[in-house]
Amino acid sequence: MEKERILSGMRPSGKLHLGNYLGALSDWVKQQDIYECFFMIADWHALTDRTDTRQIKQDTEDMLIDWLAVGLNPQKSTLFLQSEIPEHAELHLILSMITPIPWLERCPTYKEKLEMGQENNYGLLGYPILQTADILIYKANRVPVGEDQLPHLELSREIARRFNNLYGNIFPEPEPFRYNAVKILGLDGKKKMSKSYSNEIALSEEPRLVEKKVLGMFTDPEKIYLKDSGHPQECNVYSYHQTFGPLLGEDLDGIFKDCQEGRLPCKECKKNLAQVLVKTLAPFRERRKELEADRSKLKKILAKGKRAAGEVARATLREVREAMHMS
Ligand code: TRP
Repeated sequence: MEKERILSGMRPSGKLHLGNYLGALSDWVKQQDIYECFFMIADWHALTDRTDTRQIKQDTEDMLIDWLAVGLNPQKSTLFLQSEIPEHAELHLILSMITPIPWLERCPTYKEKLEMGQENNYGLLGYPILQTADILIYKANRVPVGEDQLPHLELSREIARRFNNLYGNIFPEPEPFRYNAVKILGLDGKKKMSKSYSNEIALSEEPRLVEKKVLGMFTDPEKIYLKDSGHPQECNVYSYHQTFGPLLGEDLDGIFKDCQEGRLPCKECKKNLAQVLVKTLAPFRERRKELEADRSKLKKILAKGKRAAGEVARATLREVREAMHMS
């Protein structure tokens, strides 16, 4: 039986963090063994969040290194750069002809960006059409995405349906594939982990910095003196132990009780957590070192991705042109 095909992408925003790993990448790594996977660095989409593009190459490279460090494998998956496959842009243009503007205007992400003061330019409005082209050009059956992307996927399905009705059945309607996402809050314990809130631990964080950041985490505000009993169920530090500890054999019940019964000082609890995180990140650090020592490897990986993705994209576009009597 043929494997189902997956496509997903991320905008290159520089170095990824533990939240990105738990929320998305760890799923992608597993999906590689089940599906035929296309993973894309969405550098054209990144143009919607910046006009200064001097950093974009570096951000792309940093992201690719993070992907490889956590276990995305170019032998198993096609890893590629969006702007190297110009067919996405042609399909985007074609799809823009059959997408009513109100469909785009009702997108929550669009409205949010406008509220945040972003310029109301065409690229921002058309963002989901480009995303649809990214997906349809590979005829992906499934698209792993986070919650915030579900409206985009709904739109992609509508556009696919419309195209198929007009010109013949070319595109499968892509199904969203919700992440098994383990959500973690940022170090502040208030908002989700994100670089824009400066509450993150990067996948490439130096051990010393991991410790420093963890020691700065808030703990139970009612635990002031050593012997005060803590409330681990409400403590962000404990929830990190829950997320990362078991893999490394931590005794969660023990931590819970010792905290509750005033035997475990917060500082010690955080030092232990820092160690757990450093150990969790250690294998990524190892692989990153190898990659940083051999940057030509990155180029080769993207070149391979470009060949494989380009082949599929060109074949689909040929079909599209034929279906539209344009070839
Ligand atoms: N819009 C996605 C995000 O911001 C990134 C993206 C671009 C994407 N093209 C895609 C995701 C195609 C899935 C499929 O996260």
